[in-house]
Amino acid sequence: MAAAAAAKVQEVRDVTRIERIGAHSHIRGLGLDDALEPRNVSQGMVGQLGARRAAGVVLEMIKEGKIAGRAVLIGGQPGTGKTAIAMGMAQALGTDTPFYGIAGSEVFSLEMSKTEALTQAFRKSIGVRIKEESEIIEGEVVEMQIDRPATGTGQKVGKLTLKTTEMETIYDLGAKMIESLTKEKVQAGDVITIDKASGKISKLGRSFTRAKDYDAMGPQTKFVQCPEGELQKRKEVVHTVTLHEIDVINSRQQGFLALFSGDTGEIKSEVREQINQKVAEWREEGKAEIVPGVLFIDEVHMLDIECFSYLNRALEHDMAPVLIMATNRGITKIRGTSYTSPHGIPIDLLDRLLIISTSPYTERDTKQILSIRCEEEDVEMSDDAMLALMKIGMETSLRYAIQLITCASLVCRKRKGTKVSVDDIKRVYSLFLDETRSSQYLKEYHQEFMFNEIKDESKPMEIAS
Ligand SMILES: Nc1ncnc2c1ncn2[C@@H]1O[C@H](COP(=O)(O)OP(=O)(O)OP(=O)(O)O)[C@@H](O)[C@H]1O
Ligand SMILES: [Mg+2]
Repeated sequence: MAAAAAAKVQEVRDVTRIERIGAHSHIRGLGLDDALEPRNVSQGMVGQLGARRAAGVVLEMIKEGKIAGRAVLIGGQPGTGKTAIAMGMAQALGTDTPFYGIAGSEVFSLEMSKTEALTQAFRKSIGVRIKEESEIIEGEVVEMQIDRPATGTGQKVGKLTLKTTEMETIYDLGAKMIESLTKEKVQAGDVITIDKASGKISKLGRSFTRAKDYDAMGPQTKFVQCPEGELQKRKEVVHTVTLHEIDVINSRQQGFLALFSGDTGEIKSEVREQINQKVAEWREEGKAEIVPGVLFIDEVHMLDIECFSYLNRALEHDMAPVLIMATNRGITKIRGTSYTSPHGIPIDLLDRLLIISTSPYTERDTKQILSIRCEEEDVEMSDDAMLALMKIGMETSLRYAIQLITCASLVCRKRKGTKVSVDDIKRVYSLFLDETRSSQYLKEYHQEFMFNEIKDESKPMEIAS
């Protein structure tokens, strides 16, 4: 049962993965070498060497499965790459170790309590690796014959001939099988596997013996050997799902479809207890193992005192993930109290953390990051434009400069240019204000805005009567 559910979860994941250019889409890892030393520019990561080195050590411990229930805080000024480093860690972990990220403010949703939201987040970052033996048929397609009923309606039937180097067998095909074969565009010469339980068909590649048959094959065509031995095999399949996914599937109110919509609501604690028990049984029987993943809470200063106390407690649970948090706050109020504390985090939680700090970028690093972003967005930029943008980045903020890339390239395209010039940069710089100029503007024209709270010295004070 567990394995079937796990397979279903995998399918949902395949459907919902979308790629687009986002703020961190240029980050493909932490850019470390084998000795965990950061290369200055690698995998989209630039500079920030100390923090990346530290993140690399944490990552290595996570990969070895040695630590769970530890917590790391990345602290530093805005725009110094805290979120970027966390994304790099996620990429470096690969798909087999769960990584789940939320922003602190997401915890305060109207649909569930704060602690429920945090519990779900924790369980989304704990993986369960389920091992399962399944029966498959693996062979090279010799011939596929599909008969359409003469009337045009009714079930299609067909026959599929598969072979290995030693044997050849003809299988009868039902309508469902025909549909999946058509969907996968299976043709003679393909090497395929059919999962006997689920009927799922996967194409492994084209047989080497057929390499010369077609010259119209794309360069991405993969060639494989014709399988040896029996057509029917037993194969060990490993699925990794998260505890949360098991919770949702087994929660009668939600059902499996809730994973599609993400609309899971609160999950009863009895369900969770049952799942914990079941997973413990699987572990004892050797059917499953726990993979502590990573929970990343960005903007962690948005959490309040109740959430922090929940975190203290949750980290001590025996199935806890590694918690990574990020904040750009200095010494400030802890939400929900009138006490101040470094990073707005209570001292007792801070005491359990390893703290990584990030620092502002040099001119060289800023320029390097900007040019990586240009590449990511497919924007060509002249050298002097790049220099101007770098200056802007140093004086205002890296984020503002990154934003200007997209705008400048649009302006450039409007004038039918192919390379962004200094003039394009100048133009967007005057069109869009950065934070400093915007506040200056507000100070100058504050009288014309609503709800203005700045007292105007030039006006005589009103006398209360
Ligand atoms: N070392 C780096 N290498 C490559 N890109 C980076 C690096 N540091 C930051 N960036 C990019 O710069 C932008 C701003 O960085 P990021 O969002 O990580 O800052 P932050 O520290 O999380 O800031 P905040 O405190 O405001 O959340 C992002 O687009 C990020 O991908
Ligand atoms: Mg951030």
